[in-house]
Amino acid sequence: MGMTGIAVSAQRGQRGQGGQPPPPPPNGAPQGPGRGGRGGGPDGLGDLNTPATNPLTPEKIAEGRKLFFDTNLSADRTMSCGTCHDPARAFTDGRAIAKGVHNAQGSRNTPSLVNAGSGRSFFWDGRADSLEAQVLQPMTNPKEMGLTDADIESRTGMKATDVAGALASYVRTIRSRESRVDYYRAGQTEMLTADERAGFDLFRGRAQCATCHGGPNFTDDRFHNTGVGQHAGAATDQGRYAVSHDERDHGAFKTPTLREVTLTAPYMHDGSLKTLEDVVDFYNKGGDRNPNLDRRMRPLQLSADEKAQLVAFMKALSGRVTDGLPGK
Ligand code: HEC
Ligand code: HEC
Repeated sequence: MGMTGIAVSAQRGQRGQGGQPPPPPPNGAPQGPGRGGRGGGPDGLGDLNTPATNPLTPEKIAEGRKLFFDTNLSADRTMSCGTCHDPARAFTDGRAIAKGVHNAQGSRNTPSLVNAGSGRSFFWDGRADSLEAQVLQPMTNPKEMGLTDADIESRTGMKATDVAGALASYVRTIRSRESRVDYYRAGQTEMLTADERAGFDLFRGRAQCATCHGGPNFTDDRFHNTGVGQHAGAATDQGRYAVSHDERDHGAFKTPTLREVTLTAPYMHDGSLKTLEDVVDFYNKGGDRNPNLDRRMRPLQLSADEKAQLVAFMKALSGRVTDGLPGK
């Protein structure tokens, strides 16, 4: 059935000597499906937050993958999901702000989809609470693919809910794992250079990054106001507030995963920061002042060496991006 795992990008040869990649860490890379028995499931897919109403099957994953790259899912048949979520860029598009059919300018940066299946909410403001609910939205968004539910059904010959079920199943299998940081966390300390290790220590320590970018995917799956997009009080995007209507959520956005972060520039919900160096400078000055700024955002007083170490650490978060079933 051809579902022998579709490796979408090869190892990027960042493992030192250019030799063989090391064996998997003893207790499994944190998100390695099928490894280490996390959550189990016959296909090793048990840790992917799969709802009982849409169990993962190889058929659905294959169907979803076809749909993901099918340009018939956009009004003018020029775009697929993969146009904006390009596998070669960890499923992002390299643009600051997404561009949809008929050159419609969107309003936010395209997020990476790696390990999105482990998330609890979707979109920068978390307005969808399952992938099943999420995946139809780009198809019907006039600034993205611009179809109606009826168009979706006539173009695919499938019920819209089945299209959603298949796409959600496929997206769940998009994974990044086995970064050098995963090996390091599993005890292979030689996998990080001295600078990368110093960067990790800052990340978990004085720079406080891990208080938001914690856990196996370097995200807490919560919403914070870091001041991005708040230049001189001119916020144009309400962020999480539009969903929660809680005043404290003005300008708060979902913490993105940092896996594969070298491939996902430009950064932030508005694509306003071009490089990881820019990101570190942004945090070093304490973000952008505004009434809702998260209390953890404050000047960090990092030296030039320390800033470079943080960047070096983030670059070591690249691993192997795969989609489809594990275990090939
Ligand atoms: C025009 C570019 C574009 C197209 C086409 C597109 N997306 Fe997206 N995608 C985005 C942007 C931009 C966001 C963030 C939007 C927001 O937060 O409001 C996003 C968010 C997502 C997310 C949420 C990720 C997260 O962690 O929150 C998923 C999942 C996703 N898209 C899947 C898909 C699927 C499946 C398709 C095809 C049906 C698709 N996208 C088509 C640009 C696009
Ligand atoms: C208060 C929580 C918090 C802290 C502390 C924090 N971040 Fe973030 N980070 C976020 C949020 C939220 C975003 C998205 C902000 C937005 O776009 O509005 C983000 C975005 C990023 C991005 C962009 C990723 C992408 O794909 O666009 C990087 C890189 C990043 N943070 C690195 C760091 C580093 C390095 C530190 C420590 C110096 C740090 N973060 C500290 C919450 C935090």
